[in-house]
Amino acid sequence: MKRSIALLLLALGMNAAYADGRKMAVPDHAKWKEECGSCHIAYPPKLLTADNWQKMMGSLNKHFGANAELDAKDNKDILEFLKKHAGSGERHSAASLRISDTPWFKREHRSVSPKEWVHPEVKSKSNCSACHQNVARGYSEHDVRMPGGKRWEEEEYDDD
Ligand code: HEC
Ligand code: HEC
Repeated sequence: MKRSIALLLLALGMNAAYADGRKMAVPDHAKWKEECGSCHIAYPPKLLTADNWQKMMGSLNKHFGANAELDAKDNKDILEFLKKHAGSGERHSAASLRISDTPWFKREHRSVSPKEWVHPEVKSKSNCSACHQNVARGYSEHDVRMPGGKRWEEEEYDDD
């Protein structure tokens, strides 16, 4: 049953990640997950450009008010991973080096209301996992639980 649905979706030209309800899967890398997932979630490499990641990895001692410095070997290793899976184009780029400031992020989240961003369970746009469940597996609007536990799909917003 499940298999035939997946095959049908494939036949319709949709990829397996979408068939799984997951539009954006996140690649894995042990060192990255350990070092870049200790203070916050390990943010998906695809959501910033290689150039943005390079700048960030070059200034980890001044990382958004924190010191996230790594030794040279780990830094190089993680930067290579980030660049390999980076996004491209203006829409994934931000001078602030924040995913939450990129045109892509703003557009993708345009239906989220200002009140929801400052909800006590969310507090910051950087707090992806406040709304996205199982972020290590990937992101899908079908996994979103808004503050208060409401499923996003059941809300009245249109998608296009
Ligand atoms: C010592 C703690 C710490 C470590 C380790 C750390 N970060 Fe951060 N990071 C922060 C803080 C603090 C912020 C700002 C969060 C906020 O504004 O809510 C941040 C923000 C970010 C943001 C911007 C999030 C947004 O708003 O879009 C990115 C991207 C990021 N970190 C990537 C990384 C990467 C890559 C690594 C590993 C090399 C890393 N971080 C390691 C503390 C850390
Ligand atoms: C306040 C809750 C909230 C926070 C915090 C939040 N998101 Fe989202 N996100 C959403 C909602 C709701 C959607 C679906 C929007 C729509 O379909 O109109 C979404 C959509 C997405 C999508 C597209 C998924 C799909 O199926 O198309 C990605 C990827 C994503 N967010 C990543 C992130 C990342 C990375 C962060 C943190 C830097 C983040 N989000 C922070 C609520 C949030």
